[in-house]
Amino acid sequence: MGGTSGIGRELARRFAAAGSAVVVGGRSPEALSELADEGFGAIRVDVTDGDSVAAARDVVLARYPELDTVVTMSGVMLLEDVRDPAHFEAAVTTIDTNLLGTIRVVDAFTPHLVRRGFGAFVTVTSGIAFLPFPPMPSYAASKAAVHAYSEALRAQLDGTGVGVVELVPPAVARAGQEKVVAHALPLDDFASEVMRLLSQDPTPREILVKGVLMHRWAERDGTYDALVAQRSQALAMLPSRQG
Ligand SMILES: NC(=O)c1ccc[n+]([C@@H]2O[C@H](COP(=O)([O-])OP(=O)(O)OC[C@H]3O[C@@H](n4cnc5c(N)ncnc54)[C@H](OP(=O)(O)O)[C@@H]3O)[C@@H](O)[C@H]2O)c1
Repeated sequence: MGGTSGIGRELARRFAAAGSAVVVGGRSPEALSELADEGFGAIRVDVTDGDSVAAARDVVLARYPELDTVVTMSGVMLLEDVRDPAHFEAAVTTIDTNLLGTIRVVDAFTPHLVRRGFGAFVTVTSGIAFLPFPPMPSYAASKAAVHAYSEALRAQLDGTGVGVVELVPPAVARAGQEKVVAHALPLDDFASEVMRLLSQDPTPREILVKGVLMHRWAERDGTYDALVAQRSQALAMLPSRQG
């Protein structure tokens, strides 16, 4: 779920090229129709709506009864200025999509995967789960929460044959965004590194490309406070700090 653009779409293409049957979920009808033309299964789903997730699950499992991997990629990345009360709306959307959306999708597919006794959930967090980016406070909270949820989910599913793999991307620039997202990894490079890591170990606890190691281990390495201070300079991008 969440493969109609960006990281999800690129990884969907990589898995399809490697021989997997891939079905992509998302809301955008145009993107879904393009993906269907490319030969993907394409399913309309809004992860903020439990009925939509259940309906998508039913369609997917009817068509792909051997489904063994579910990726919870759907996410929004919203800037929030906490001095502007309107930020709360962004906080609600962020938690509903990134955290509750992940939980809805996991809940929908858990009975199938457990019954099958084989497979994996791939959850998606961010380097920001481990090292906040102050202009996106609820985003950081949502991703830290998905990390914690993934850890607990892995423990609860232990012994069922169903693994939990957490993909932890650093800043990744999609085509055309390279100049907007400073220090971001080009999407193509990120996807290649992910596929290389998975070829070495198909079910790691976490997929950590080199570019995210400094975020993932900042607290352990004693660099956390300095890096948060450095990243706080980005608060200048918020509208209330300009002019
Ligand atoms: N790019 C980065 O720098 C970066 C870094 C770390 C982590 N991540 C994470 O990686 C994931 C993908 O991000 P991206 O950069 O590839 O962004 P993106 O291109 O905006 O992709 C987001 C995906 O989520 C889907 N989505 C959003 N809201 C949804 C909803 N309510 N229901 C169903 N699908 C929904 C979108 O599809 P529709 O619009 O078609 O619904 C789209 O396929 C996100 O979880 C993001 O937090 C990204």
